[in-house]
Amino acid sequence: MTSAARTSPHADVLVVGAGIIGLTVAWRALLAGRRVTVVDPDPHAGATHAAAGMLAPVSEAEHGEETLARLNVASAAQWPAFARELTAASGLDVGLVATGTLTVAYDAGDAQRCRDLLALQRAWGLDVDEVTPAQARERVPLLGPHVAAATWAPGERQVDPRAVARALRAVVEAAATVVTSSVAGVERGPSGEVVGVRTPDGGTLPADLVVLAAGARSAAVVRDVPEVTVPVRPVTGTTLRLDARAAPWFAGLPVLRGVVQHRPVYVVPRPSGEVVVGATSDERDPVGGTRAGDVFALLRDARALVPGLDELPLVDVTTRDRPATRDHLPLVGPSGVPGLVLATGHHRNGVLLAPLTAAVVDALLTDAPPPDVARACDPRRRSPLTTPTRTGGTA
Ligand code: GLY
Repeated sequence: MTSAARTSPHADVLVVGAGIIGLTVAWRALLAGRRVTVVDPDPHAGATHAAAGMLAPVSEAEHGEETLARLNVASAAQWPAFARELTAASGLDVGLVATGTLTVAYDAGDAQRCRDLLALQRAWGLDVDEVTPAQARERVPLLGPHVAAATWAPGERQVDPRAVARALRAVVEAAATVVTSSVAGVERGPSGEVVGVRTPDGGTLPADLVVLAAGARSAAVVRDVPEVTVPVRPVTGTTLRLDARAAPWFAGLPVLRGVVQHRPVYVVPRPSGEVVVGATSDERDPVGGTRAGDVFALLRDARALVPGLDELPLVDVTTRDRPATRDHLPLVGPSGVPGLVLATGHHRNGVLLAPLTAAVVDALLTDAPPPDVARACDPRRRSPLTTPTRTGGTA
């Protein structure tokens, strides 16, 4: 049910943000029997709408991010059960498929980088191997002429983030109050506890517990809570969607990651015929839309890997802000101020980390300890981190 801000009933749990993380939190709170309100100016139109849905904890593992890699591996393992439960609750398929990920290096410099990362990933015990260019072509016959090296991560999957959002929205909207509004700030009680949020029209949405899941806009929501630092900065990403329904040879291919003259790119072919090409990672000042050069660069690098992409209709260009923290680990758990919980800062891994975030919320709502691996997400792990370089807009 939807509601105007001023008439919203008192909630047990109020979630700020209706992206994949906010909706996941709302769903888990409903399952725990709570009265739930969700507030967002434009539900599931943020980073979730841009996401490609690669569940790639191995292929995306990077230097300096071993803790994050362990978190990602743990959450990826929970995706099949999470998807089953969500599909059972919503009646909607979320497009989870086990395809594996092929990573391709374009030239000799890229091959060196690829092998360097392979050594790191294997040292961390991750399931990935080098394959020959011929073996890479067996997996993706559409590969272009430049394959200097390749690796194969057999256990990786993909999911359709827009389908996940539709399923979450169906279960949440059936039982929660959804308020279509931005948030001007949080309301404090007599002892400083958070007791709800204010909307720009002067309304208040009262709640016993506020969960901040507003992605790159999260810092703005709590700017008047000096005890809580939410060091989330926007890292802008553009993804492209191409229509391969008339080119069925794309369906059934694995997820393809590439390093093309030092630039990362990925191509995610879905069984539905959609092909997602991504993604830029940009910390320059925003231009209020998509930079023409970003579309050019994504297509230039993607077609260097798979020349046949040239022939497909380009049907969607989406640019959104990922919420990044300094250490690239999310902030999930109590904020330190009573009544305020954080579920934000998921950076490149909002879709991948949804099941783990759900597990932390399940634990929180039943006074159980969070899963051991999730302790790394504790928002109080460092205090305070320095101010973000570029803050998100209004909530
Ligand atoms: N995880 C892929 C991205 O953020 O672009």
